[in-house]
Amino acid sequence: MNACFVTGTDTGIGKTRVAAALLHKLALQGKRVVGMKPVASGAVWHAGVQEWEDVSQLAAASTVSTPLEWRNPYRFDAPISPHLAAQQADVQIELSTIRAAYEQLQAMADWVVVEGAGGWYAPLNEGQSMADLARALNIPVVLVAGIRLGCINHAVLTAQAIIRDGMPFAGWVANIVDKDMLLAEENIDSIRTRLSAPLLGVLPWDPQADLGDVAARLRNF
Ligand SMILES: Nc1ncnc2c1ncn2[C@@H]1O[C@H](COP(=O)(O)OP(=O)(O)OP(=O)(O)O)[C@@H](O)[C@H]1O
Ligand SMILES: [Mg+2]
Repeated sequence: MNACFVTGTDTGIGKTRVAAALLHKLALQGKRVVGMKPVASGAVWHAGVQEWEDVSQLAAASTVSTPLEWRNPYRFDAPISPHLAAQQADVQIELSTIRAAYEQLQAMADWVVVEGAGGWYAPLNEGQSMADLARALNIPVVLVAGIRLGCINHAVLTAQAIIRDGMPFAGWVANIVDKDMLLAEENIDSIRTRLSAPLLGVLPWDPQADLGDVAARLRNF
């Protein structure tokens, strides 16, 4: 395996954190790595420059320098669902464009970590979703489960969808996103017994964790 697609049980539950840490871990093993965020929505301004935080964080964890257009073929200003952002910008998100960019990255690196936007069925356009993007790339899927109340249902639903869509399910990461989560361990165990893929790591709630801290908690896969 030399690529994976990182999806999540929701938006804002640690996909970027995990994707960047995977890149960091692989880089420590001597691999040339690059992160890809095919579709980013929600720009922020830093010192007068527009920036997409996921794209920047993945770039910071990458060791191969590649054109932005390959790492991030689509980016939109508004922090809204990609299909609505694309509609507003009068852009059609094309899987063939994303696939071509991914192939350029593959040719330059040993490993490509691709981060989805939102969850598995977040729409890209009228007829396609993140699931179709993962299928177009045809790479194993890593699921980040945000551990908070309701996470068991979200994790099981997403895992079932990944498998039903015929994608290889490489593993999942339990990311504790609620600092007051009660019975986190028991919740993680409840997910573990219901998913067919291995648990690749448990990340405690830690707003200060750096790439190295997170990477150290992830298993090789
Ligand atoms: N275990 C954790 N403990 C504390 N804060 C966390 C943890 N995991 C993620 N966060 C924080 O939560 C926020 C969302 O995380 P992240 O950006 O990785 O989510 P995401 O799933 O990639 O979101 P998006 O859907 O916007 O791409 C970030 O500010 C991140 O630092
Ligand atoms: Mg992200």
